[in-house]
Amino acid sequence: MMHDIAVKLLGGKELETIMNLTRRPALYEPGEPAFWTDPHISAMMLQAHLNPVDDAASRSAEHIHAEVDGLFSSGAVKPGDRLLDLGCGPGLYAVELAKRGVQVTGIDFSERSLAHARKHATECGVEIEFRHQNFLELDDVAAYDSIIQVYGEMNVFEPMLRDRLLANVKRALKPGGRFTFDVTTRACHLKHGGRNHWEAAPSGFWTPHAHLLLADGFYYEEADVWLDQYVVLEADRTRVFRNWFTEYDAVSIGKVLEHAGFSVAGLTNGLSMAPLTADTEWIGVRAIST
Ligand SMILES: C[S@@+](CC[C@H](N)C(=O)[O-])C[C@H]1O[C@@H](n2cnc3c(N)ncnc32)[C@H](O)[C@@H]1O
Repeated sequence: MMHDIAVKLLGGKELETIMNLTRRPALYEPGEPAFWTDPHISAMMLQAHLNPVDDAASRSAEHIHAEVDGLFSSGAVKPGDRLLDLGCGPGLYAVELAKRGVQVTGIDFSERSLAHARKHATECGVEIEFRHQNFLELDDVAAYDSIIQVYGEMNVFEPMLRDRLLANVKRALKPGGRFTFDVTTRACHLKHGGRNHWEAAPSGFWTPHAHLLLADGFYYEEADVWLDQYVVLEADRTRVFRNWFTEYDAVSIGKVLEHAGFSVAGLTNGLSMAPLTADTEWIGVRAIST
């Protein structure tokens, strides 16, 4: 009988384990640390980065060009700048900026993305220093006119780590240097954040092996934090990936920056620098080290 089979497959203990794995965790409870560096996931990420028409992982080629134009037209980046690209990924922005006369250093902790970035720079005939480094450990001093961080990396840190990153950025900038980045707002994840769903597949984004994926999204209204959670069950291991996003608005990001020794030079609708709207999903932030 179907009922008996179901009981054998999923006893009370297994069900309890699954219920436990899929529960709403405490705010900022960490998941697997290997999101960017796991060999299979980083290969899938790179594929997503390099999709020229899709805005996942990196933005589409058209979108990147509009943003690089915006960086120059707003004065966030100037030809001849020494510029640091934090979390440069496969170097799509770094190469575009170097082509336009900027001296770029790119930092990332994905070796796979950096290998692509180096190849891309060589093919385009531009010289860029690509460094394999955790930007939370950045210790450069007064070295750059401009630092950029693209695609919401500032959202993923809890406040203590975010402030450490901002202190690293401030130290690495020359006096009066420019820091330009983008952050998501509450509107972004209420619209696009993960939702409760499952998939059973022979392979997929998270693993090359057969697995069951139990995904969910949780909103922590009190802290304005969104969590995308992915529980990946395989024959011989279970992993829980958690992508935390602290959301900002014009007021909250201003306060964070002021506290970290920056003034706000401009807030826009994303980095293509369109005027800010009340329902924006991405805020482009231009800050100056004070
Ligand atoms: C969303 S991707 C954006 C990549 C690139 N900025 C773009 O828009 O094409 C974030 C990148 O940040 C890198 N990253 C995340 N945390 C990092 C850290 N602590 N140190 C260095 N790189 C990091 C990841 O490896 C990834 O390449």
